[in-house]
Parts: sequence; C-alpha cells; structure tokens
Amino acid sequence: MIEVRQKVFRISTKSTSYLFRILPTGHLENLHYGRLLAWQDFQGLYMKQNAGVGSSVLYEEGGYTLDLLPLEYSFNGKGDFREMPLEIKMPDGSYVCDFQYESHEILEGTLPMEEMPTAKGEEAETLVVHLSDRLFLLKMMLIYTVFPDCDVITRRAVIENRSDQPVEILKFMSMQLDLLMDHPEVLTLSGGWIREAKKERHRLPVGSFLQESRTGGSSNRHNPGLLLMEKNATEDFGKVYGFNLLYSGNHRSVVEKTSHGLVRVHQGVSPHNFCWMLESGETFRTPEAVMTVSMEGMNGVSHHFHDFINRHIISREFQYKERPVLMNNWEATFFDFNERKILSLAREAKKLGVELFVLDDGWFGERNSDKAGLGDYWENRKKLPSGIKGLAEKINAMGLRFGLWFEPEMVNEDSDLYRNHPEYALRVPGRTPSKGRNQLVLDLNRKEVQDYIIKEVSHLLESCDISYVKWDMNRHMSDVYSGAVNHQGMAFHGYILGLYRVMKTLTERFPKVLFESCSSGGNRFDLGMLSYMPQVWASDNTDPISRLTIQEGLSYFYPLSTMEAHVSESPHQQTLRKTPLETRFHVASFGVLGYELELTHLNLKEKEEVKKQIAWYKKYRSLMQFGRFYRFDRVRENRVNFQVVSEDRKQTVQGFFQKMQEPSPPFDVMPFKGLTNENTYVVRTREASMDIEAFGSLLKHVMPIKLSPGGLILRNARKFYRLPHNVEEYTVKGDLLSEGLRLHQQFMGTGYQKDTRMLGDFGSQLMVGEMKEER
Ligand code: GLA
Repeated sequence: MIEVRQKVFRISTKSTSYLFRILPTGHLENLHYGRLLAWQDFQGLYMKQNAGVGSSVLYEEGGYTLDLLPLEYSFNGKGDFREMPLEIKMPDGSYVCDFQYESHEILEGTLPMEEMPTAKGEEAETLVVHLSDRLFLLKMMLIYTVFPDCDVITRRAVIENRSDQPVEILKFMSMQLDLLMDHPEVLTLSGGWIREAKKERHRLPVGSFLQESRTGGSSNRHNPGLLLMEKNATEDFGKVYGFNLLYSGNHRSVVEKTSHGLVRVHQGVSPHNFCWMLESGETFRTPEAVMTVSMEGMNGVSHHFHDFINRHIISREFQYKERPVLMNNWEATFFDFNERKILSLAREAKKLGVELFVLDDGWFGERNSDKAGLGDYWENRKKLPSGIKGLAEKINAMGLRFGLWFEPEMVNEDSDLYRNHPEYALRVPGRTPSKGRNQLVLDLNRKEVQDYIIKEVSHLLESCDISYVKWDMNRHMSDVYSGAVNHQGMAFHGYILGLYRVMKTLTERFPKVLFESCSSGGNRFDLGMLSYMPQVWASDNTDPISRLTIQEGLSYFYPLSTMEAHVSESPHQQTLRKTPLETRFHVASFGVLGYELELTHLNLKEKEEVKKQIAWYKKYRSLMQFGRFYRFDRVRENRVNFQVVSEDRKQTVQGFFQKMQEPSPPFDVMPFKGLTNENTYVVRTREASMDIEAFGSLLKHVMPIKLSPGGLILRNARKFYRLPHNVEEYTVKGDLLSEGLRLHQQFMGTGYQKDTRMLGDFGSQLMVGEMKEER
C-alpha cells in the first residue's frame, strides 16, 4: 500500500514499511526501512542536524548538509561526497546536477518497460516521483513498485532529456538506499566456472564495498544478489536487507559506510565502459532493482525473494507449475553420438521414469567438437539421419517429451554463418578478436542478428514437438565493438537490450516451451534471465558435495524451482570425487531433478535405485520445487542440512548431508523448522540402499559368505545386492521436532548393526515428515 500525507510517503507491505519525506528544498529524505510502522508523527525519524559538522558544505544558507542525510537519490556537486548514483555530463559540460521533487502519482499495478523485463502482478501498486533539475530541462522519475504479499519493493529510475542538447550518462544506478547501521556486514556470492555461488560474508569497514561484473553477463564471478545485515544476524534471527537486480549484463552493487554510521547501497548497470548518449527528446530507463527486509534473519529474506520470484518474475505459464524430470545426454556422450545412441539412452530413461529427454550440444552443422558449427542450426544428417523432426517423433512415441540445446548468441569462425556474415560478430575493426571456447560473440546490438536468432530458433520450434529449450552462452565478452551504436559506451547495455528483445519475442511466440537458461552452468543466474526462462542450469559441476555449496549459495536469492540439478557419474567428471548414488540424488532433489550420465552403464541394482528415486521425487515434487526452504546455521563444519516445508505445513523433508566422516562422531540432532507445534507428525527416513563396495573388508560382517573386497565375486555381487540403509521412524508433535530429533548413532568402527546409520564420507539421508490427520 502506498500513502502520502503531509509530504511523507509510506510504502507498506505485509510486514514492512518504507518511509521518506520531501524536505523544504525538494530533496527526499529516507526515514525508515524495516518493521511495519503505523501512521504517527514521524519527527522521531527525521535526521537531526543541530550542531553542524566542521568543513562540510551547507546546501544553502541556514540549510542542511546533504552529506549527512539519508537520501532517496543523490546528485553530484552540491555537498554530498558519498558514492553518487548518477554521473551525467550536463549540457554546460559540468557534472553538477540537482534534481528536486516536482510531483508524484500513484498507479495501480506495475509499470512495465518495453525494452527490459519488469516484475509482474496485478495486486502491485506503483509510486512515481517526478523530479526536475534546477537549471536544465532534464526530468527524472523515481519509480517504486510494491508487492505487499512478499514484502518486496522494486526501484528504478528514468531520465528524460527535454533540453535541446544531448547529455552523456556515465553512470545511472537503479536505486539508492541510505540507512543508519552500526556494524554492517554483507553477504554476496562469488565464484567461477564449476565453483559458482560461494557465499562470502564480510564486515564492512568505513569505505566502499564494491561488487561488479564486467564480463558482459551477470557472471559466475559476482552474482547481482546482495544481503546487508547487522553483525549478529543469523539464518533465523536479526534484521537483514536483501537486494537484487532484473538484469543479465554488467552490474554493480556498492555499499558505502561513512564515519557517521550512514550506510549507502546502490545497485544498477555497471558504469564500466558505459556511456549513454541521450539525445534531445530521448529517455533512458534503468533496470528494475529489488529490495526486501526481514527481522527473521537470512532465511526470512530468502523466503521473500523466493515468493517474489515464483509469483512475480516467472512467466504466468510456468508459475508453480511442476517441472519435468529430465535426462540430458551431454555428460554421457559429449559430441560423440548418433540417433541409435540417443534412442537407447532415451529408452533407458523412459524405463526409469524420466519425463523429458534433452539433446544437448552437437546436433547441428559441423559441430563435432567445440571448434566449429555454432551459428548453423540445421541438423547434422550424418548423426541424425531422420533429422530433429524424426528424432523428436521417435522420442515422443516412447512417451517422453523432447528438448533441444542451442547456443544462439555465439558463432564459430568455422561456420557458414561467420563465413557469410563476419560483421555479425563483436570485434574491433583492425584487431584480431580474442576467443573463448573457440567462439566469438554475436553482436546483439544489431537488429539483423536478433532477427537471425529469432528466425533460426523459431524454425526448429515450429518444425516439431519441442517442449523445452536449453539456451546456452559459453563465454565472457571481449572485443566489444558494435557497428550498430553511435557511441561504443552503449554496446554492452545495447547487447542486453537486444538479447531481451530476442527472448521476449521467442517466449511470447512459444509460451508453452520451457526455456532453461545456461551459461557454462551458472554464469548468468539472474532475475533478468528468469523473467523469460523459469529455470537455470545451476552449474556444470554436479558433484553433490560441490553442489551443496552452490545450491545453498543460490538459495539466499533464488528458489529451488529455478535450480536445475542433475545426478551424474561417480567418480565425478570435474572433481574426481567418489560419492554414493543416494547422496547424488538427495542433493539434486533439492532443486529440479534431472539425470546426466551413461544410464546404460548402471547395473541392475543401480537402475532399481534410480527408478525408486524418480518415483519418490515425483511424489514430493511440488514440495521439493516450491516448498518453503530453510537453511541451518552450521553446528559442525562437515554437516549441511536443508529442509523444505509445504505451504499448509503438513509435509516436510529434511536432508542431512555429511562431508568427511569424523571418527567416533558426536550425536546428531535434527531440529525441524516451520512446522506447527501442536500437530503430530510421522517422520521417517527415506528408504535407500548403498553399494556394498563401500564396506571394503567389513563385508565379512554383513554378507553371509566371506568375500575378498577387490575380488571378482564382490564385483559381481554389487550388481545383485545393495545394502538397505537404516530407517528411523518417530510419531511426535511439531514442538518436539523443533527441539530436534536425536538420531541413531553413526557407524563407529565397532561393527555393523542394522540400527546404525552408515554414512561415511559424503553420506546422506532424507527424513520425510507427514502431518497425522487428527480424528
Ligand atoms: C556448456 C553447458 C553444458 C553443455 C555444454 C555443451 O558447458 O554448461 O551443460 O551444454 O555447454 O557444449
């Protein structure tokens, strides 16, 4: 809800309030962002400047010092010396500007942009505050959209050049938030290829913390999500602010702390190599930034983000729609496949319960390695004699849906597209372009390139029944020069606008196709991509122990329904780590489940296990994809717990994951969150089985006959026998569960007993809780 009284604006959500007021000079002072506050005399929140601070600048005679005020947006050159959200070269050549309040309007719903994605929602409300510069005919709008149901407010800013001269925008942040905080800390996600989304928590000194992507994409190095909190905040307690951006290109977040305890946050397009020429009569809009705050720790903020994304970012078609269990052939075959091989994998996948078969890279042009073919999206008839259409029909006839991989934004020099249109690639005239994965980036600033991509992808999607597309983008950008812009400072952002036009056109044309965004895994995991593509390939790394870090990191900002997670081979292809099949599944089940391995190499017992996994996942799919997700503060470094709870609190699943085994480990207690205290639940371990090979010479205690651990008989016995895991079951009330279940002891080297939890290195288990119907 948005209300304005006596120059005070109050934006309220279910449990938060955002307040600011118009100062006599027309600047906007932020008063509060936090718990819900009733209307009252808000003077208690005004910033008091009654003593002055030496050497500071007074905005006007007898007035205030802008530098010491929490401001809604600041302008350069009038005495505020903190980070500036806007750098603009004015018609007089100066960098000084001074925008002040002029009027405001309150609109129902959101205010969508044509060129960039915005959050959706009829119940939203939008406040537009109009400002104008004191000297030149430049107008500015600060736009706030409130989503009360999930405690989110989005922000963006717009500049309109009504003067008769061009201006140069060098930096234009989507939002500014000034807060008063004593010991602020930030949490961000950093990383790289196969090591995405590692959380980093830092205490802020006086000075600036900067997080920026300059790779052309939102990047695996610095995700745009950011949390800001007081130092004692935990997963469940303390005041935590959350920020994110609907943008897929270069972005920047800055948090600046001053010696007076003021903390400033900016988010927006990175000013790196950015310069936007705004001609007379033109308008520039920033991407939409997202803010939320919770008094219930980091889980609280994540819940707001998860609801917001599931309800207001994901396209209507896929909102809360269960995602299919898929099989992807990439790690099973790489480029080396033919129709027979693909059909044999698909047949096997179907038997195990898979619903969608995805054909990955290598099906088109001369794409037999990553050196050639990108750009040429016609099927390779040597590999696929009946073409994509024939293959799709055969796969559909098995009762599986069919999906296809594309990398539409890229081109290999060894391709017909490049031979015919070298000008389509980003490159600086006269310089040899640098390549990544042997490929160049297509210049999406060019309309003809956008149209080429739309035409090629549409052609395939129209030609047969393709219900899923994996949209890949496998390198960072270099040699960014475009023949289509009138200032090279526009090329990075122009690329993203071109990409959004392509994705908007395709997703509107094919609303039922499920698009999955991928960029060498999670190199573009952001709200911009999610606005068009409901799920993301979280990482090329599917090792479950790495995935615990990656999926947990992503969960701070993104719901499980957006994270595609696959069971793959062991030893793992990127880490060489050997992990149990059940752990690979347990980790992947906290996300959108898929399989990416040579299914035909699984032995009979492993296939049975996979079949049970998929059946179990389908039963709990809605909970695993859309349930309320909880993280736990670490009790021990080698242990990670994840939990989901259904909206009606009748069902829950908690995963217990162990990294390295401790000798004679301490007792394990498993507390549950988010359940009702008074109801009774039956909590039971998911039945799983383990490879007998894991027991080595201990096997003599569990098998009726004596076997040599490395011998032939054992190798064969594995195919016919897996050892059932210990199962625990409790019928208890929610209050006891929140206190914590005391689990059976783990194996201690004192021999195998059937009640012992046999976990070992990388062992795991799921506990499933169901509310008992009261009679
Ligand atoms: C990227 C993706 C992988 C796979 C390959 C194919 O690395 O992240 O999942 O699709 O490309 O070349």
